[in-house]
Amino acid sequence: MEFTLSEEQLMIQQAARDFAETELLPEVIERDDEQRFPKEQVQKMSELGFMGMMVSEKYGGSGMDTLSYVLVMEELSKVDASASVIVSVNNSLVCWGLETYGTEEQKQKYLTRLASGEIIGAFCLSEPEAGSDATSQKTTAFDKGDHYVINGTKNWITNGSSAEVYLVIAQTDVDKGHKGINAFILEKGMDGFEIGPKENKLGIRGSDTHSLIFNDVKVPKENRIGEDGFGFKFAMKTLAGGRIGIAAQALGIAAGAYELSKKYSKERKAFGTEIMNHQAIAFKLADMHTKIEAARHLVYKAAWDKDNGNNYDLSGAMAKLYASEVAMETAVEAVQVHGGNGFVKDYHVERLMRDAKITQIYEGTSEIQKIVISRSILKD
Ligand code: CAA
Repeated sequence: MEFTLSEEQLMIQQAARDFAETELLPEVIERDDEQRFPKEQVQKMSELGFMGMMVSEKYGGSGMDTLSYVLVMEELSKVDASASVIVSVNNSLVCWGLETYGTEEQKQKYLTRLASGEIIGAFCLSEPEAGSDATSQKTTAFDKGDHYVINGTKNWITNGSSAEVYLVIAQTDVDKGHKGINAFILEKGMDGFEIGPKENKLGIRGSDTHSLIFNDVKVPKENRIGEDGFGFKFAMKTLAGGRIGIAAQALGIAAGAYELSKKYSKERKAFGTEIMNHQAIAFKLADMHTKIEAARHLVYKAAWDKDNGNNYDLSGAMAKLYASEVAMETAVEAVQVHGGNGFVKDYHVERLMRDAKITQIYEGTSEIQKIVISRSILKD
């Protein structure tokens, strides 16, 4: 296998690293405290082409491969996972689905603006009673001839109030189960479309997460994505790629926590020497490094599968499952390495620990990844 990154991939990785250090790091603690959306930073990431990285240039994107996207996600997440989830949702869950399954009109009208970062998007699948059990959609979209009428509530929607475009999954024929589900493009400001209160979260506090309420929202028929009944498969296929983005986010959180721990252990002294000279600390660092490297291989392999036209349901699920568990474990250990300093905000690791938790939950919990993995390995 080839493990060398291309010159272009190294350049984009460096650009993301520089951006994270110079633009995300300042005020990351304050944004987390105040639950402040990184508006200016998103604007700058648009200028760098991060908001539509994999979208072809024809539609205003950067036309890069999935591995480049993963490298960027990793670097941003080392510093600010609130910023990186905005990038991830826009790229994997919104732009990818529109470019792959949208009509030419939908691409011209929405994708071009989303890919350039002029506007951002949100992906709306989860509901109060349909989180992991995604086929149990209660939001309805009834066919009224030239339009659909949407009613229902969506929960925990990333970019909930900042987005302009929302991909909404809804049940169009309750008797058909998952075959009666469709995906629609909604715009902020449509009559009957209300943005609910902002969630007060444990982690990724800079990203805005809201419920959304639809009361008789009229959506033109041309805003349906794909053939009638394609909505559940659309969601599953979109999430399969999304999971690679979140795996890269988890990898970045783990790598960020490890790098801070390594630096700290070279500076902090106890019992007459730098704490890295104590085996208790050195072994923690050895474990972190090994697990992060293993996670990195899984994440890059999933990206490679996607770039090479292979099925990535299994590799993406394994990457997300393992990388998110490594993120959580590494961040907890990073707090331990930092001792009392790890428990206060200035040292960043407590935030990384809080941010790590969501990577085991969103875009499919660890338990859902195990369902996807076990079904895949047992099907033959
Ligand atoms: N690609 C294509 N089709 C797929 C698919 C995939 N990856 N996975 C399932 N399908 C198809 C199946 O083939 C089946 O179709 P047929 O009947 O035609 O064969 C259909 O979808 C139903 O599949 P299942 O019978 O496997 O459905 P299930 O009820 O057992 O559920 C599941 C499967 C994998 C558990 C799924 O419900 C799931 O992924 N749940 C988790 C949902 C999730 O990730 N939610 C996260 C919310 S989004 C979010 O977090 C966004 C954010 O803002 C950050």
